[in-house]
Amino acid sequence: MSSTKQPWGNTVDVEFSDSIAFVYFNRPDKKNCMSPTLNREMYATLHALELDDRCKVVVLTGRGAAWSAGMDLKEYFRETDNESDAFKMRIREEAAAWQQIKLRNHAKPTIAMVNGWVFGGAFTPLTSCDIAIASDDATFGLSEINWGILPGGNVTKSVADTMGQRDALYYIMTGETFDGKKAAKMGLVNESVPAKQLEKRVRELAKVLMEKDPIVLRSAKEVFKRVRYMDWETANDYIYAKSDGSQKRSGGEFRNGAMKAFLDEKKLKPGLDTYKKDDGKNAIKSSKKPAGAKKSKKK
Ligand code: COA
Repeated sequence: MSSTKQPWGNTVDVEFSDSIAFVYFNRPDKKNCMSPTLNREMYATLHALELDDRCKVVVLTGRGAAWSAGMDLKEYFRETDNESDAFKMRIREEAAAWQQIKLRNHAKPTIAMVNGWVFGGAFTPLTSCDIAIASDDATFGLSEINWGILPGGNVTKSVADTMGQRDALYYIMTGETFDGKKAAKMGLVNESVPAKQLEKRVRELAKVLMEKDPIVLRSAKEVFKRVRYMDWETANDYIYAKSDGSQKRSGGEFRNGAMKAFLDEKKLKPGLDTYKKDDGKNAIKSSKKPAGAKKSKKK
């Protein structure tokens, strides 16, 4: 892996490997809790990665034993209690800017690789990632109620969007913890795997995402995140508009190549595999069949 400090700062680190940017919460001694500085550095990092060609997929993970232990009770809460209202609003805005806007709408596919503790405020970036894979032994908790606040920073909205009412209210109201397996069962994460397999599984998934048309992939996730709040007619129009727009921006090469490979060349089953634009095998440069290609049987 190649690593560089710029422009990530001290509380965030990034390693590039196989076109994946592994973005680390980098305060292991503080269980990666999120301070105002971390919030600013995370925004700058995610913003930079949108235009960084070394990154095709973002993986958000934590250094050490934690994914993130939530908002920093000292630097985000207690030390700002006596600041002006405007200051408090500003640090809330900075937290939301990366957790709820930049990450949620990131230009690249995002995967949460959940390696350890996940508490309170950390549920917001967790659910802002497109996909989440957890270690079986990760520990999750909506711990706010344990220290006398309710889950703010849109944590309540995050769990309302991803968990069922019974589970969400149970954990909001009891503050009990649960593990990665339980998180997967409740749909808070997509899967949980043994700790040793976590990175391997995430790399496999990142590879699958990298093979898709990146412009269409970006539009597909944007569409999903918007349409849940639209009525049917508006959603239908919006989806067509986004679909047409993404084809125009991408040039349609992927779509047309895939249709040719399926309909004319009979060498791709898009129901079972993805068209691979760049590997030369499926990219259709001419209508000539490759040597040795079998004639498909008519059924
Ligand atoms: N805010 C501020 N500091 C935090 C923190 C948080 N959310 N989570 C951990 N830390 C700090 C601890 O204060 C400690 O600092 P210190 O070394 O200066 O004393 C350091 O990180 C290590 O934490 P510690 O509690 O000693 O580790 P542990 O392994 O015994 O326990 C946790 C880990 C995550 C269970 C425990 O730190 C914890 O409960 N953290 C709070 C989680 C929480 O409720 N977050 C919700 C915020 S919205």
